Order: sequence, then structure tokens, then C-alpha cells
Amino acid sequence: MPIIAPSLLSADFSNLRHEMNDVSSAPWLHLDVMDGHFVPNISFGMPVIKALRPYSEAKFDVHLMIEPVDPYLEATAKAGADHITVHCEGNPHLYRSLQTIKALGCKAGVAICPATPPEALSQVMDIVDIILVMSVNPGFGGQSFLEGQLPKISVLSKMILQSGRPVILGVDGGIDEQTAPRVVEAGATLLVAGSSIFGKADRKAAIEGLVNVSCRS
Ligand code: DX5
Ligand code: ZN
Repeated sequence: MPIIAPSLLSADFSNLRHEMNDVSSAPWLHLDVMDGHFVPNISFGMPVIKALRPYSEAKFDVHLMIEPVDPYLEATAKAGADHITVHCEGNPHLYRSLQTIKALGCKAGVAICPATPPEALSQVMDIVDIILVMSVNPGFGGQSFLEGQLPKISVLSKMILQSGRPVILGVDGGIDEQTAPRVVEAGATLLVAGSSIFGKADRKAAIEGLVNVSCRS
């Protein structure tokens, strides 16, 4: 059964605490931090994450789309992140970033953009806890799933198997009841979903729906 991580980016920003509670049936909450530099959009930052932290029991899964990233890792952990995911692109010292995240007591994730080959992660397989395949160009919610990312999910799934480590394989972007079973079949164990959950009136049913279609795959 895949882990479902609703992405708060698609929530009603005027009512974040309520929106967060509305997806409390999911074990993780995905929080997208964007800087308008690494990605062409600005979302929210550590003060918002810190303000929400006391009102949720979910694992805070923070996806940093910022460059540089290292100067903000400590602040992200202090704001209440349980997992910190950084991008492999634009970071010559990715290994150090992952070491720093672990030293801060968080699970260490690496996100990989659509144009980056899976082999870019071959030298971090001994340290990474979460791999996040971007199935859209990062920066915005509500985009269409990029079919070309399916083979990459399979390759990374095999790399994880070879590593012998319990690495979680996530997919982020365009995940709905049509695409979820396909990415799970390719090896995904974590589904990040924004608009397909927050775009529905009944969020609990939307989360259950994603789990159900994935289990049938
Ligand atoms: C995009 C973000 C995603 C986004 C996904 O850069 O990383 O987490 O919220 O949104 P949907 O599920 O609507 O594609
Ligand atoms: Zn994300």
C-alpha cells in the first residue's frame, strides 16, 4: 500500500490550518517551499511550516525547491520538518546536504527533475532515505503527468532493490486515480498529490480513492 502525501500547495491558502486538518487521514503532509529562482514560482517558507506544526500529527515532508539549499536546512528542521527533500540539480555538494539533513535528525530525500537521468542518484544510494521523481516540471500544482517519467521510476526502483536499503520511492506531480496505479506498478511507494486531493470536496474520500486504485494495480 503506497504512502499518500497530500501537497498543501493546492490547498486554500486563506485557511491552511483547516485545510491541513481536512487531510489528516493521510500519514504525511507534503510542503513545497519555492524561491522564485530554482523554480519560477514562490510558495511559502519556514515560518508557515513552523506555525502549522503544532496542529498536525502527520509527518512533515518538506520539498525544498530553493537554491542555494544548504543555508536553509537547519531552519527547515527547526520549523518542524520530519523529512527534508532537496534537488539533485544545481547542487554540487548533494552528498553533504544529505549528511547535514541526517545530522539534523530528519529523513533525507532527493528530488529529481524530468530532464535528469536516474543515474544522477547512483552515488547517493548509500545515504538517501527518500527519492522523489518529479513527474511534472517543479514549480506549480495542477500540471499533467509526464508519461516519459514512468521508465525512470522503474529504473530507480531497481537501483533501490540493488542497494538493499529501505529507500522510499515517491512520485510528485499529476498524480490522480488514473496515474497512481501506473506509477505504483512501476515501483512507487509514495504518492504526492495536490490538486487531485485538495480539488475535491471530500478530501478523505480522495485519499482513500488513491489508496484503493493503487492496491488494485
Ligand atoms: C510541484 C510540487 C508538487 C505539487 C503537485 O512542483 O512539487 O508537490 O504540489 O501538485 P499536483 O498533484 O497538483 O500535480
Ligand atoms: Zn513537491
